[in-house]
Amino acid sequence: MLAFSNKNVEYVFDGSFSQLALLYQQDKVVIVTDENVFKHHKKKFEGFATIQLPAGEEFKQQRSVDDIISQLLELQADKETILVGVGGGVITDMTGYAASIYKRGIKLVLVPTSILGMVDAAVGGKNGVDVGPFKNMVGTVYQPEMLLFDYEFLDTLPEEEWVNGFAEIIKHASIKDAAFFDFLSGKTLAAFREDKQLLAELIEKNVAIKTAVVLKDEFETGDRRLLNFGHTIGHAIENIYQLSHGHAISIGMVAAATLSEEINEFSSAEKQQLIVLLEQYQLPVTYPFDKDSIWDILIMDKKRSKDTMNFILLDKIGHAVVKPIPLEQLKDLINQCL
Ligand SMILES: NC(=O)c1ccc[n+]([C@@H]2O[C@H](COP(=O)([O-])OP(=O)(O)OC[C@H]3O[C@@H](n4cnc5c(N)ncnc54)[C@H](O)[C@@H]3O)[C@@H](O)[C@H]2O)c1
Repeated sequence: MLAFSNKNVEYVFDGSFSQLALLYQQDKVVIVTDENVFKHHKKKFEGFATIQLPAGEEFKQQRSVDDIISQLLELQADKETILVGVGGGVITDMTGYAASIYKRGIKLVLVPTSILGMVDAAVGGKNGVDVGPFKNMVGTVYQPEMLLFDYEFLDTLPEEEWVNGFAEIIKHASIKDAAFFDFLSGKTLAAFREDKQLLAELIEKNVAIKTAVVLKDEFETGDRRLLNFGHTIGHAIENIYQLSHGHAISIGMVAAATLSEEINEFSSAEKQQLIVLLEQYQLPVTYPFDKDSIWDILIMDKKRSKDTMNFILLDKIGHAVVKPIPLEQLKDLINQCL
């Protein structure tokens, strides 16, 4: 049980989706999921009111949340309703947001079904939607009652989504834990897919790293910003080039490592280690993006204050810092170094 500012969040590792029916009265539960997760796990949802949304980041928009709200009204959901988000980060982000605003807040349970959802998106209470190409521009911080990890969902997760999830795993190691970085260097994606015990340990480790950061800084005034390593440039290229989140973040981390080398004394040998690890987990490390187009998106980033951007840089593997970079300098650095 973890105590956040307004709620105790129960983490159920190695749980089973069937526990839901034991924990909550079934007619009080409304599930939100996407068409892929529903298709593969139909049987699990039997007996629950289920709202099914189209899958994909392009649907992570206010209109989908409006759709959830209309369906909640049709179902006559009230303050006793428990909204359960079952899916990847897109679904858990939108379900969390909907739960936080419907009738000014109803109970929320999250059941992440992708690696990225389990190690990152479902943990920490941030939620929201994109506004056009601008990522996560609208949302709230709202903790669930419970986070239920049922690893059985991962049996149907496509290969490319496993790869995606490892971008955030490598991010956690890069910013917080050099020993964990070394541990990942000695493994492969296949090893985690084959060994359920190893996978369970990996997920718990990542949840622990993220939770520790969030508990120190739930509303992102300090350390939580470190979790955005790779995300400033990553988010800018993600929506322009329709890259997957993991691919965009991987490319963004290498770009941030390059800036770290330029202005933060991060060694080129360690940058190389990061590149090798990302490639080992089948992640891309470069992209021929147009610098002018990403700049227009980049300056809308939430980490920008008037004339500076709070950029997350590495000092060394396992340790990150937030550095305000004047926008002029950032533009020059992007043009000259990336
Ligand atoms: N709130 C946060 O703190 C936070 C942190 C990191 C990322 N995010 C958000 O998470 C999103 C990315 O999450 P994602 O990569 O999980 O994307 P996603 O939700 O789009 O899922 C990826 C794909 O996998 C499918 N899928 C998910 N689980 C499956 C399963 N068990 N079997 C078969 N298919 C399955 C989905 O239908 C989708 O097609 C982004 O919108 C990002 O902004 C949020």
